[in-house]
Amino acid sequence: MIEARNLTKVFDLSPARAQRALDAADDRAAAVRAAGGVLAVDDVSFSVERGELFVIMGLSGSGKSTVIRMINRLVAPTAGNVAYDGADVGAMTTRQLRELRNRRVGMVFQHFALFPHRTVRDNAAYGLKARGVPKRERLARADRALEQVGLAQRGDAYPGEFSGGMQQRVGLARALTTDPDVLIMDEPFSALDPLTRRSMQDQLLELQREFRKTIIFVTHDLNEAMRIGDRIMVMRNGRIVQLGTGPEIISEPADDYVRDFVSDVDRTRVLTAATVMEPAWVTAALDEDPAPVLARLEDSLGRGVYVTAPDGTIAGVATSGPLSAAVAERRTGLADCLGGDYAAVPDDTPLVGFCHLAGRHAVPLAVVDRGKRLVGVVPRTRVLDAIASAPEDVNAHA
Ligand SMILES: Nc1ncnc2c1ncn2[C@@H]1O[C@H](COP(=O)(O)OP(=O)(O)O)[C@@H](O)[C@H]1O
Ligand SMILES: [Mg+2]
Repeated sequence: MIEARNLTKVFDLSPARAQRALDAADDRAAAVRAAGGVLAVDDVSFSVERGELFVIMGLSGSGKSTVIRMINRLVAPTAGNVAYDGADVGAMTTRQLRELRNRRVGMVFQHFALFPHRTVRDNAAYGLKARGVPKRERLARADRALEQVGLAQRGDAYPGEFSGGMQQRVGLARALTTDPDVLIMDEPFSALDPLTRRSMQDQLLELQREFRKTIIFVTHDLNEAMRIGDRIMVMRNGRIVQLGTGPEIISEPADDYVRDFVSDVDRTRVLTAATVMEPAWVTAALDEDPAPVLARLEDSLGRGVYVTAPDGTIAGVATSGPLSAAVAERRTGLADCLGGDYAAVPDDTPLVGFCHLAGRHAVPLAVVDRGKRLVGVVPRTRVLDAIASAPEDVNAHA
């Protein structure tokens, strides 16, 4: 939906001098600095899918705000371009740009700049006035947006009566009234205390589940990024150092900078069953005969095998006792050998939600996909590794 290609921004230099510095043979940033400019964003490319919650994470000064301002051209790139639904934003007329900013992209900032002397409803409706929406419709839409952010019936209050978190919700409602395709949020929760912040994150995730907006969310907090982001783009000094899902970044940090960030994160909430599982050692199909399955089990040193139905779902677990009995009685198929001594979790379950289940059964914990098909197993040792070891060690097992 949004495609940024080679986005580059130099501040404080004329375009010609900026270009000359950027063409420098080796260190572009140093060349720009030597010429008296700031290389705020340096050759950044990424694309954001429709319905995705895309997080841009980095320390202060890493170029995050400049990147998002280039998306709707509040800042014009020195080089590179942005395509919005395939249309080059740099080639848009003034009118098209206004349409893009007013209707299609909503912005939410750290400080919402609410009008203290206007009601919450008027504040929420503010963006619609500029677009010439009649008053009655403005207020009706504002009320709907206030309801979405959990402020139904509060439209007549004034911002001063609200806590910080509630004021941020009014700001969010303001961005939602225009029903934008894309919501850009620049450190919207950074000024809030940790508890309020968490509840705002929950609220945003809930809104996202319901409305599936495309959201670009800027933060300097990796825990926040991990908690809400479908994918996270980590920036440093104007460049992308890593782009991936939270679990990918945790289990394979691209460099020491990211590893350092990651060391503060609560791994048990970010790592999922899918990221720590390994292929099931031994499995069997329901229509196999007991003898070869028993042989495989004995070779494996395991205490049981997962038996899967033709559709890939788990039919049960066969341990050596029932298998030996079935072999002795020359039975065919495994249907009579199945037991229920196992546990299974969906592949997106965080570590904190399944670590207590590992090691409890004859077979390692099963991981299943949405269709309840067996996709892997988590032996107990693997859970311990994932919690205890440094990221590179987890990676070494992968
Ligand atoms: N309008 C501007 N003029 C000059 N320098 C700027 C301007 N905006 C940002 N910068 C510089 O560009 C760099 C990146 O800033 P910014 O995009 O605001 O980073 P972040 O949002 O990650 O904190 C910083 O060094 C900042 O000082
Ligand atoms: Mg910023």
